[in-house]
Amino acid sequence: MEMAVSNVTKKGDNVLIVSNGFFGDRFIDICERKGLNTDVLSAPWGQVVPPEEIEKKLKEKNYAAMTVTHVDTATGAGAPIQEIGKVMKNFPDTVYIVDGVAATAGEREYVDDYGIDILFTGSQKAFGVAPGLLILFAGKKALERRKSLGTIPEYYIDFEKWIPIMNDPSKYFATPAVNMIWALKESVRLINEEGIEARYDRHIRMSDAINAALEALGFKLLAVKGNRCSTLSNVLYPEGINDAEFRAALAEEGVMVAGGLAAYAGKMFRLGHMGNIDDHTVYSTIAAIERTLIRLGYRYEKGTGLKTLLEKM
Ligand SMILES: Cc1ncc(COP(=O)(O)O)c(C=O)c1O
Repeated sequence: MEMAVSNVTKKGDNVLIVSNGFFGDRFIDICERKGLNTDVLSAPWGQVVPPEEIEKKLKEKNYAAMTVTHVDTATGAGAPIQEIGKVMKNFPDTVYIVDGVAATAGEREYVDDYGIDILFTGSQKAFGVAPGLLILFAGKKALERRKSLGTIPEYYIDFEKWIPIMNDPSKYFATPAVNMIWALKESVRLINEEGIEARYDRHIRMSDAINAALEALGFKLLAVKGNRCSTLSNVLYPEGINDAEFRAALAEEGVMVAGGLAAYAGKMFRLGHMGNIDDHTVYSTIAAIERTLIRLGYRYEKGTGLKTLLEKM
């Protein structure tokens, strides 16, 4: 996030932050520490800022950059980055930055078609590698902007330090995490083996089935229909389920989920289903959730989650 912003802005520039939750808000802190002037468009958690609202705001002043979080992991809502990209075509001076951390390699993102200037993700999400690598794409507009800035205050995250190494990896700037790069290479091999389009479709098929199964069990989803991403589900508990008990029992059944963030702590769990998961993982996850509900004495029609999966998958 910091690398994206630092390479295309200078102190005193205006940045528009489109935030649909916790990770969108993180850009505010990053930009303010850099002495950038920030304007923020926020959506209620579970919803997304509409492209028309973004367009209206962009007309108000000259923004050096705009940030959008594709999937805010705190809410499970997916921003309409393609439609936003169409809007951005009318604002050629604004660099379009997309945080793809919980999306890239799981959700469709065609940087050229969508007009995205910078897209980045972490190796640990839909690439399905261990944590440790930042993967960042920067297009022509972003690189030209970087050039126009001269020397920037940041050192390690300066594009211009890394580009010569990308062009000739035998050169030295900083010790690369070669172990992670080998792991990423294997992940890219798996992605190519599956086919990227098939991978995107699989994420949609699985998330639709998982969400339907969870709803059949009595859970509700935070992200509103139409704005749901395909990489994770942010799941609100029905009446009578205690978050800590549920997650501890579910872990014993073999499934680790994360808790809700900020106002949703204790009210929700976050279930990731991105990367190299298969149908078996989906069935065993819903089975583990059912076993957990039974252990906690929750009254519901047993097997209804698995039955929904069998119908939907
Ligand atoms: C959308 C989004 N952006 C940024 C981050 C930060 O990534 P990291 O924790 O690898 O620094 C996360 C982490 O979950 C995220 O989900």
